[in-house]
Amino acid sequence: MNEITTIAKDIYYVGVSDSDIRTFDIIMKTANGTTYNAYLIKTDEGVIILDTVKEEFAELFFEKIEALCSYDEIRYIVMHHLEPDHSGALPELVRRAKNVKIFVSPLATNMLKSITHSDTMDFEVVSTGKVLECGEKRLRFLSTPNLHWPETMSSYLEDEKILFSGDIFGSHYYDDRLFDDLVGDFDYAFKYYYDHIMRPFKSDVLNALKLYKELDIDIVATLHGPIIRSNPQKYIALYDQWSTKSQRSGGKKIVSIFYVTSYKNTKLMAQKIYEGIESIEGVIANIYDLSALDEPSMLNILEESTGILIGAPTINGDLPRPAWELLSCMMLLEKRGKVGGSFGSYGWSGEAPEMIFERMRGLNFRVPIEPLKVKLIPTQEELRLCYDFGVEFGEIVMGKMVEITL
Ligand code: FEO
Repeated sequence: MNEITTIAKDIYYVGVSDSDIRTFDIIMKTANGTTYNAYLIKTDEGVIILDTVKEEFAELFFEKIEALCSYDEIRYIVMHHLEPDHSGALPELVRRAKNVKIFVSPLATNMLKSITHSDTMDFEVVSTGKVLECGEKRLRFLSTPNLHWPETMSSYLEDEKILFSGDIFGSHYYDDRLFDDLVGDFDYAFKYYYDHIMRPFKSDVLNALKLYKELDIDIVATLHGPIIRSNPQKYIALYDQWSTKSQRSGGKKIVSIFYVTSYKNTKLMAQKIYEGIESIEGVIANIYDLSALDEPSMLNILEESTGILIGAPTINGDLPRPAWELLSCMMLLEKRGKVGGSFGSYGWSGEAPEMIFERMRGLNFRVPIEPLKVKLIPTQEELRLCYDFGVEFGEIVMGKMVEITL
């Protein structure tokens, strides 16, 4: 969208489109391209710019600004998020608009200095409750961290009832008709964006929704994709639904045991560990053969689980691919409060359980029990150790405190 579009009286879209992009942030597919949304608010006492755009699109962004005001009129810049797709044009904007004050969240301070390479700029950190009054406009700040970087925040233009949400509620979906009621069907992009960007931060999404629910919102002005004005509550409700924990386990804690097996020895271990976990009241254990599980299923299971155990044999001194795939998809999950562990049967060197253990520790799982390893076929005594391992793991998931060896 390379036109200047009016969002509401004195509020303009000055964002840009990136229609040809097909991969965003390395991991995301963008079949319909994307947009870098930015906004300009005119008041009797000067102009407010809300966010900038990716650096390579800066000139168009500046052309749009220049069509609406002079740089001397710009008094404030609000940066809801400092990722380069939104802060790319900020250093040049600060050079051109010399008398601006920048508003950011408290956690943005150091990053703002790194981006602008200036120690002398005028900026203020703001949190929920702070209101910027400029002419007849009142912009209320909302602390909404971790959506999806620590420094993210939102703001709400009170009289116009516009929520400037930041990345949340965005879509990587370019359509120059810009508004959700005018563009094509972008539902797939809205969900895909949630799954790949916001899903690891469900608790923070729910915290933000608490703030948003106190507002009367007519328009959600996102940082990517369509501006939502036809039914904002529908999209807010979807985020609520996707971020709210399933109650299917009836209050019990779920432990999921994933395994890969060559000669059924690791599977035997998994079965005994399962029996040990199941003996603990308040826990539901489930076993999954990783060789027949796709990523969406893995993610759903992992998300519902408080405890996650992964078992694998060692092949050529390494962890087999299905286990690596499980570990790599965990970047799309909230790991807070999860307990992890590993096990496996091995023939020679047996590194796989340690590899799982270290990866889980790196992902900030709690990993309170050392990996359990068995050489080739488990004996009856080793199967009893597997059972005991399951019992202890189940107890820890239920809150038993253990000393963690580092
Ligand atoms: Fe759209 Fe997190 O940057």
